[in-house]
Amino acid sequence: MKIDKKEVLRALENITVPGEGQNMVESGAVKNIQIFGDEVEVDITIGNPSLQARKKTEVEILKIIHREVYEKAKIKINIKVDAPAKPKTNEIKGKPLPGIQNIIAVASGKGGVGKSTVTANLAVTLAKMGFKVGILDADIYGPSMPIMFDVPMEKPLAVNVGGKSKMKPVENYGVKLLSIGFFTQPDQAVIWRGPMAAKALNQMIFDAHWGELDFMLIDLPPGTGDIHLSIMQAMPVTGAVVVSTPQNVALADARKGVAMFQQESINVPVLGIVENMAYFTPDELPDNKYYIFGKEGAKNLSEDLNVPFLGEIPLVQSIREAGDVGRPAAMQTATPVEKAFEEITKNVVQEVVGRNKDLPPTEAIKITTMAGCSAVKKK
Ligand SMILES: Nc1ncnc2c1ncn2[C@@H]1O[C@H](COP(=O)(O)OP(=O)(O)O)[C@@H](O)[C@H]1O
Ligand SMILES: [Mg+2]
Repeated sequence: MKIDKKEVLRALENITVPGEGQNMVESGAVKNIQIFGDEVEVDITIGNPSLQARKKTEVEILKIIHREVYEKAKIKINIKVDAPAKPKTNEIKGKPLPGIQNIIAVASGKGGVGKSTVTANLAVTLAKMGFKVGILDADIYGPSMPIMFDVPMEKPLAVNVGGKSKMKPVENYGVKLLSIGFFTQPDQAVIWRGPMAAKALNQMIFDAHWGELDFMLIDLPPGTGDIHLSIMQAMPVTGAVVVSTPQNVALADARKGVAMFQQESINVPVLGIVENMAYFTPDELPDNKYYIFGKEGAKNLSEDLNVPFLGEIPLVQSIREAGDVGRPAAMQTATPVEKAFEEITKNVVQEVVGRNKDLPPTEAIKITTMAGCSAVKKK
């Protein structure tokens, strides 16, 4: 029995593409048909990636060819899923966070590498440069912004915005802040279940009156966990800054951090890597550099991963002290620390500008749960 290709095509015209009202030949879903004696191989492309949609299409094709063409045909169906193209820039209207131009996630693999320190100093430096800045302290396990900004006892006030009650971020040094730390006692251990933490964060994002911001910095918890996904699900993160110290244990985790953002399903551009505690400089010997954690580890990592290197910050006592007294070190003018943060901040701004020119806006990710394992995909 020789099967006729035209007959197969005609048979496939009986199958309509869900939601399109066209049959699958008209819509271009049928890419190729090959006949080998009584064997038919059909290549098709569909827009619906669900397993159910694929199975349904497969069954329909089998049935129709057996019914209309040859009931003993051996049929092979290759289905390729081609999800709809990303919307163009001008199609993404009504951003989830109106008024906020750029959202920058500050992340690290390891804890204690200076993520919060970098966030706080980036923020005050941006404010000094004249930008409107806010920090969302998303490190629910160890919120440090209330102390780093000397507002440990503050509580955000409620304001009425268009008939709705919203949280007003606490403000100091020209930086707006919201932190889980404002709602807990400083010495209270807070144990969060995943969904509770996500809810608290969502409130700080959507039930807050941030006003106009050029930059919102997010101080993420260490690692690559649920909170990261919740944040990237809640809002379109413009880019990520990854902080690492030069030693191998920190670098290995920083690598994982970069990989998380670059994962296809997350796809948040990595603006670059900051090397913190790059070398130790004693106050009394300001020209001496001691590479106690190794030299240029984070710089080499950025080259290895092909992401920008944003700059290095020395390990100096004044940075630690400034953090503890609640006045970020970069506020002290005419110091090497101020200069280091200025350079890093300029590089971050430059990367953000380049990123916004070259790449479409980030989409918030959609998280689905399938058979007990969690998968992440774009909306
Ligand atoms: N470059 C630095 N020089 C001196 N101390 C630093 C430096 N960076 C961070 N620290 C100190 O190290 C500790 C951990 O920093 P922190 O920013 O809280 O880390 P993370 O947020 O990554 O856990 C803090 O006490 C901080 O003041
Ligand atoms: Mg921290």
